[in-house]
Amino acid sequence: MRRVITYGTFDLFHEGHRRLLERARTLGDYLVVGVTSSSYDNGRGKLNVRESLVERIHNVTQSGLADEVIVEEYEGQKIHDIQRLGISTFAIGSDWVGKFDYLGDYCEVVYLERTKGISSTGLRDAAGVIRMGVVGAGRIARRFVQEARFVSGVNVEAVWTRRPEGARAFAEEFELRWANDSYEDLLAHVDAVYIATPHETHVEFSRQAIEAGVHVLCEKPIALHRDELETLFELADKHSVVLLEALKTAFSPGFQRMVAIARSGTIGTIRSVDATFTKLVTSGRELESAEAGSLSELASYPFLAMVKLLGTEPTAVTTRAIMADGVDMFSRVDVDYPQAIASATVGLGVKSEGDLVVSGTQGYVYVPAPWWLTEYFETRFEDPRENRKYFYKFDGDGLRYELAEFISMIREGSAESFRLRRDESRAIASLMERARANAEAFGG
Ligand code: CTP
Repeated sequence: MRRVITYGTFDLFHEGHRRLLERARTLGDYLVVGVTSSSYDNGRGKLNVRESLVERIHNVTQSGLADEVIVEEYEGQKIHDIQRLGISTFAIGSDWVGKFDYLGDYCEVVYLERTKGISSTGLRDAAGVIRMGVVGAGRIARRFVQEARFVSGVNVEAVWTRRPEGARAFAEEFELRWANDSYEDLLAHVDAVYIATPHETHVEFSRQAIEAGVHVLCEKPIALHRDELETLFELADKHSVVLLEALKTAFSPGFQRMVAIARSGTIGTIRSVDATFTKLVTSGRELESAEAGSLSELASYPFLAMVKLLGTEPTAVTTRAIMADGVDMFSRVDVDYPQAIASATVGLGVKSEGDLVVSGTQGYVYVPAPWWLTEYFETRFEDPRENRKYFYKFDGDGLRYELAEFISMIREGSAESFRLRRDESRAIASLMERARANAEAFGG
């Protein structure tokens, strides 16, 4: 018997998929179809797949064209499947020509002409592409536009920044449709904005966008005071728009898995969280803007880890800060919880090891630097034979995950993401406010 195999995501099963399976089938007597798991797609940066694995398998099965359906879960699995299942032909669409020649060592490789004019991406976009504007044209805004290309259903079309020539150069470089003259003008041209301006402007820019009925993805920290954030959430509800804090770590698959493992009892009861984030800066916004300093610039990340791991109700916050020219260059924040203690160490003028340690009654989680781009962590125990290593390598720098979440919230009309709930954003704002208010200063 000649066995044939093919693979795909098969999201929103369409005519192109059906025709591919029909032809693959004629290459042998038995067709195996590999459907990608959600975590495999996520890990390779294929985001916004609409249907669950179960739905996609159901659709492939319903087509009546597959004799067997398997799940594709990891890179390199094709080689194992081909040998394990005694496959004689591997077939795939012509968009992959050349990419799977290496399988020629194990079986025949056939590229089938792709059906023109239809794709899952096209079907997803038919629901309407969300037009997005970028506010600010700095480093993070640049990275954002590049990452947005990996998320379907969104198109960055406009930019506005205080310097008109900066906006024009940005629009030209990234081939955006509009370099707007005013913020109001930008808001009139888009469905959503990404705000990447200095912190002290976040609240006002968010408010204006929300009142114009525009969805907001705002760089962290949206607000340096809890009440301001609360007011924005209420306003977002009133205008039925999404307001999401762009705290990228919260949306990265590795960080979410680390939190879930730490909270599932693997290391016992969590008793402490210690997180460090330093970034050496000698000039610029981080040091010079009205709300400059290592706390406002960097502490959102360690506070996220505390809130996710220990909850939203700390009992006490104390800060010591080393100052230079009125700006905190290095700060340590001690946060107490009823049954646990935590620390955040942040620095713009001091370099340190940027790791995260979550200590429990049975063991601890160690996330090496840069822990906020969680790609790797370990659980460690008294008996080192029980230690485990976890890998969550992802492409890009993680911004695509927060954008994908934002887009799906808009599509589904949901005000809240479980990846970063409103009460968690509020608790982070509250920690920020308390940490900055009671900072005991050293130096000038
Ligand atoms: N395929 C095809 N003709 C199309 C679309 C897909 O022959 N118009 C083939 C692909 O080449 C692949 C299989 O169907 O062999 C599964 O592809 P998949 O990536 O799931 O579908 P796409 O529609 O290409 O999805 P996306 O737009 O998300 O990349």
